[in-house]
Amino acid sequence: MNYNLNLKLILIIPLLLGLVRPDPEPLQDYCIADTTAQHSLFMNGQPCLNPELASPTHFSTSALSKPGNTSGNAYGFSVILTTNQNLPGHRTQGLSMARVDIAPDGLVPPHAHPRASEVTTCIKGDILVGFVDTTNTMYTQRLRPGESFVFPKGLIHFLYNVDQRSPALAISGLSSENPGTQVVPIATFTSKPTMPDIVLEKAFKIDGQEVARIRNHLKG
Ligand SMILES: *[C@@H]1O[C@H](CO)[C@@H](O)[C@H](O)[C@H]1NC(C)=O
Repeated sequence: MNYNLNLKLILIIPLLLGLVRPDPEPLQDYCIADTTAQHSLFMNGQPCLNPELASPTHFSTSALSKPGNTSGNAYGFSVILTTNQNLPGHRTQGLSMARVDIAPDGLVPPHAHPRASEVTTCIKGDILVGFVDTTNTMYTQRLRPGESFVFPKGLIHFLYNVDQRSPALAISGLSSENPGTQVVPIATFTSKPTMPDIVLEKAFKIDGQEVARIRNHLKG
């Protein structure tokens, strides 16, 4: 009795706190993210909509239909991701999609998704993609329209628009509704609060002035 109760609490408390994510197996047909109602049961931070209220629009989105603004960062790229807000029907399905626009000569800098593998398909342009595995081996490929490439889960990867004149477009599928992203230069140099200078100096074999210079470049 007591043991059973304890076991239930151990199982239920992380669920209520939203610490247990449903990837990779959904517990039911679907769980449409209910982004408005106040409920007591939360999964991954949001309650599920009453299935009787489900409609086709919950499973469709036009979020990826328009190009993103590639001028919003120093690298010349834009990533629009499906989320529980713009595609509530993809909750608990263990997937999401991304539209990646890259300006001419633009770069999606080295980054990793801790919770998802990714397959990307070049729709337009000429994209150099690559990742580094845990043996520090680099894998790169040039993608032309219609060609795809897999970035294994959690590994650092990049996409570079080789074309100096035309923008590039890629569409990615990711194996989590909440892939998470860590951009290597951003995470190392512009975290809040910042990583101690001494750590960066030793890690990259640079001096304090160079740390400050890189930080400034990344902000601008
Ligand atoms: C794109 O972003 C830049 C920088 O934030 C901004 O100045 C510009 O107006 C934006 N363009 C569009 C079409 O929204």
